[in-house]
Amino acid sequence: MSYRRTALITGASGGMGRACARLFGASHDLLLTDVAGPALDRFAEELSKDGYSISAARSGSIGDAGLVEALVDDLSGSDPFVLVHTAAVSPSQADWRTILEVDLIASVRLLNAVEPVLRPGSVGVLIASLAGHMAAVDPQAAALCADPVAPGFIDSMERVVLRAAGDSPAGAPGPAYSYAKQGLIALAERRAVAWGARGARLVSISPGVIATPMGHQEMEAHPDALRLATAVPAGRTGTAAEIAQAARFLASDEASFITGCDLKVDGGAVAFVRHAAAAAA
Ligand SMILES: NC(=O)c1ccc[n+]([C@@H]2O[C@H](COP(=O)([O-])OP(=O)(O)OC[C@H]3O[C@@H](n4cnc5c(N)ncnc54)[C@H](O)[C@@H]3O)[C@@H](O)[C@H]2O)c1
Repeated sequence: MSYRRTALITGASGGMGRACARLFGASHDLLLTDVAGPALDRFAEELSKDGYSISAARSGSIGDAGLVEALVDDLSGSDPFVLVHTAAVSPSQADWRTILEVDLIASVRLLNAVEPVLRPGSVGVLIASLAGHMAAVDPQAAALCADPVAPGFIDSMERVVLRAAGDSPAGAPGPAYSYAKQGLIALAERRAVAWGARGARLVSISPGVIATPMGHQEMEAHPDALRLATAVPAGRTGTAAEIAQAARFLASDEASFITGCDLKVDGGAVAFVRHAAAAAA
């Protein structure tokens, strides 16, 4: 009898989620979730037809406590599992409050819910962003984002986000996204200690500009993202498959000594932005 672990993939009908489902699905039973219900159902059907094993495809917002409870129930009887958390909204898709709610608050709640059912050998991979590395760290934002489920978090963040946006609500989604992703990178580092005590590992990946629906939308809305995508050392945008491959490596036994850290899979974007000026001088 074959022995397969479960891979829970959030944002499973998005660009990276699909790529992760196809890659992890070669060796894992898939537990898929996304807020885009019809797209998720179509994708799960397509995967089933292609011979993948789907343990469940649950639609709903990752911020929904009932959905998360059902996913954790699906995991609780299982052996060590992999969590690849890709679900998020970007600055051109949502207002600043929604970005903080989905990208950060829901991520913390998801980890809170999953941690009681961790088994030795479980691995969590959180998808952060190069935006978390590009933006300056605001100590007040960092302190608040360390506990985003605290009462009054959104109200306290309003001042910080608007200040970063030069008091323009229209500019607020950008800083909110950066702070949420900085919070996610810090979350993987901080929680890795407790995960280690349970024999589990927790890491984050910071993708650069990736050719997914979200990536295309950002490049259309922000020509800077498009320029950056081609100016980076890799000279191109990345593919969702390249993020999935990094996630699979981090979830594998080959990465058994890697935990509590962030892996940039960005074609050298952060290196380029930090060092291009010095190199040109
Ligand atoms: N594409 C890029 O250039 C890029 C760059 C850096 C980081 N990222 C990050 O990579 C991850 C995956 O992005 P992608 O490019 O695959 O985007 P995508 O838009 O293709 O996929 C994201 C998926 O998340 C789902 N989603 C959105 N809100 C949700 C919610 N409340 N509950 C459940 N699911 C929800 C969407 O329906 C979508 O299917 C995200 O965390 C994103 O912030 C993307």
